[in-house]
Amino acid sequence: MVEETTKTQELIALEDKHGAHNYHPLPVVLSKGEGVYLWDVEGEKYFDFLSAYSAVNQGHCHPKIINTMMEQAKTLTLTSRAFYNDALGPYEKYITEYFGYDKVLPMNSGAEADETALKICRRWAYDKKGIAEDKAKIIVCDGNFHGRTITIVSMSTDPDSYKGFGPHTPGFIKIPYNDLDALARELEDPNVAGFLVEPIQGEAGVFVPDEGYITKAYEMCKAKNVLFIADEVQTGIARTGKLLACDYENVRPDILILGKALSGGAFPVSAVLADDDIMLVIKPGEHGSTYGGNPIACKVAIAALEIVKEENLAERAEKLGEIFREELRKIDSEMITLVRGKGLLNAIIIKPKNGKEAWDVCVKMKENGLLAKPTHGDIIRFAPPLVITEEQIHEAVAIIAKSIKEIENE
Ligand SMILES: Cc1ncc(COP(=O)(O)O)c(C=O)c1O
Repeated sequence: MVEETTKTQELIALEDKHGAHNYHPLPVVLSKGEGVYLWDVEGEKYFDFLSAYSAVNQGHCHPKIINTMMEQAKTLTLTSRAFYNDALGPYEKYITEYFGYDKVLPMNSGAEADETALKICRRWAYDKKGIAEDKAKIIVCDGNFHGRTITIVSMSTDPDSYKGFGPHTPGFIKIPYNDLDALARELEDPNVAGFLVEPIQGEAGVFVPDEGYITKAYEMCKAKNVLFIADEVQTGIARTGKLLACDYENVRPDILILGKALSGGAFPVSAVLADDDIMLVIKPGEHGSTYGGNPIACKVAIAALEIVKEENLAERAEKLGEIFREELRKIDSEMITLVRGKGLLNAIIIKPKNGKEAWDVCVKMKENGLLAKPTHGDIIRFAPPLVITEEQIHEAVAIIAKSIKEIENE
């Protein structure tokens, strides 16, 4: 008898055959999204509890973003920066006023924005701080995730990221996250130009540092004339319950890196923000990207940022995040050993039982109508679009609880 293959199996096989194997997705093939929901090619509906790694904070296919994108796509899509375009200036004014900086440098992916920040920091080290050419060092944290380029993986402490991709870029000092003594020690080196940090480590498994860490780290950097560089690609744009996670500690980074939800998931848009004395170290011809600052990106980013304010997404994330964690903590299961997070960036730590791990829990949740992905084997991150309602949070927790019970009883 010939077994019938489903559309899902067919499409997974196609990716497997023709695509590089650089991801290990959950076995679900999605074809439609709206708000907090996704649908697969068989017509099944799911809660999205990943939000494309926090890119879809505004919800899937937000009508304001999509309409803006379609309008601009009919008019002008790309000029390159060889010429001016009529969308870039207004966007630059809008985003710099929104976040309170003198200047923005537009890029596309998060990794590119991180690379941009590193370049600005190094150039500032030579032109402003007076560090000898090629001697600048940047401090980074163990467990960091800033993307996938050669230089960024050179800063990584995760072997999956860096192993086998050497020789690595020099000039980085790695210290434990959430460790001010280690930071103080390394800041004694006069060649240190910057400290690059995620205010909450997202990919590492939603590690929230101690209260006061960001403020103290910032003050210590200032005392040593070192740039405090915040990677808010995942934590920014309302995800953690404030516009920026650094806002919890009233810290204004010297260099701010944004990406992901800057476009609400519609388009790759990233940005680096800084004041003139830092940003203007970069001169014409020294940095750029063909697509950076393209008219669609500019219009989409303004729409995405307007939605954050119009729909009070930060306040929603803060309030609903508290309810979500409280409800998760009520789930009576020895498989959940910890619930942590801030706003709607959360994670649970899973203790394996009967050979069942976080991956099996995610597969079970998928069968029950909720999509999430494990990170580092035993951690499941929960990050729904911020447009989720309180009622939907309760429905989602019921699915999570049911799935864990089913796994425990298998
Ligand atoms: C904190 C942080 N920085 C940078 C990146 C890289 O962004 P992209 O995948 O758009 O290059 C990520 C992606 O997850 C991230 O979480």
